[in-house]
Amino acid sequence: MVRKGVQEYGLEFVGFRDGWRGPLEGDTVPLDIQAVRGILPRGGTILGSSRTNPLKSPGGGGRNGIERIKDNLAGLGVDALVVIGGEDTLGVATRLGEQGVPVVGVPKTIDNDLGATDYTFGFDTAVNIAMEAIDRLHTTAESHHRALIVEVMGRHAGWIALHAGLAGGANVILIPERPFDIERVCAYVQHRFQTRFAPIVVVAEGAHPVSEELATSSEQLDSFGHVRLGGVGQMLADEIEKRTGKEARCTVLGHIQRGGTPTAFDRVLATRFGVHAVQAVHEEAFGVMMALRGTDIIRVPLAEATSQLKLVPPQRYAEAEVFFG
Ligand code: F6P
Repeated sequence: MVRKGVQEYGLEFVGFRDGWRGPLEGDTVPLDIQAVRGILPRGGTILGSSRTNPLKSPGGGGRNGIERIKDNLAGLGVDALVVIGGEDTLGVATRLGEQGVPVVGVPKTIDNDLGATDYTFGFDTAVNIAMEAIDRLHTTAESHHRALIVEVMGRHAGWIALHAGLAGGANVILIPERPFDIERVCAYVQHRFQTRFAPIVVVAEGAHPVSEELATSSEQLDSFGHVRLGGVGQMLADEIEKRTGKEARCTVLGHIQRGGTPTAFDRVLATRFGVHAVQAVHEEAFGVMMALRGTDIIRVPLAEATSQLKLVPPQRYAEAEVFFG
């Protein structure tokens, strides 16, 4: 964005620190070409992140969070705001856009759960990290005759589990979209032991047994109203050990999936999104999100992209089920 914006359009950029906290507090960093050099191999964000939700933040002086952001943007002379993030971040961008702020969205989340785009950036990196972890776990599963459970992230969508599980040759993949029957999972595991191949169960943090609640590692809600998910992997390991008599262990990948250097796919996707986002700004095409459709980057209304989560459809899960057991 910065390269094209400066070179072709003569634009000037500032970066807001720590997600929505930056615009709320008017906290900026200079963002010229020098500042963005060498960031391709870096994971995370050079701007920082937070779970600040302006829709829940008091604005001070009788204003709400949105009004405070509008005042700060005007005070800083910002003509357009490019918002990079997932469902929560872009949900706020949608509201801002509806209230007249010129916004352009860029879809970034490891969860890949934003509607209207085939892929979000970050997802491919997370999947590759999880796949590599599964590859490594095969060694112990096979040599020690253990069932190994791998818990991956993804919140309420099973995309990371589905892709990493398929790529890593999982015995069974459990996703939030399809509540699981523990007896069936155990039958798959037993069968894999009979074939003398590694029983590796990949479970999404949001997966849950039929008629049981989500496993949560904390009941506290963040400012976007989300519980902290986690714990389903250990619960599964305990049940599998109890029901099959085989040793079962759980590995929770957690934030390892969000760390380190991005894959080539994510670097290219993020770069292309940036180039197209600044073009949208230049053309004053606001209220849109960049989206990947096939191999093309297109513009979609932000409201369309954030109105519904993109979940794993049954036919995609059925493709993976061919390899269960
Ligand atoms: O939305 C991205 C994500 O990594 C989810 O997969 C996960 O549930 C959540 O964020 C974890 O957030 P935090 O690091 O704030 O606990």
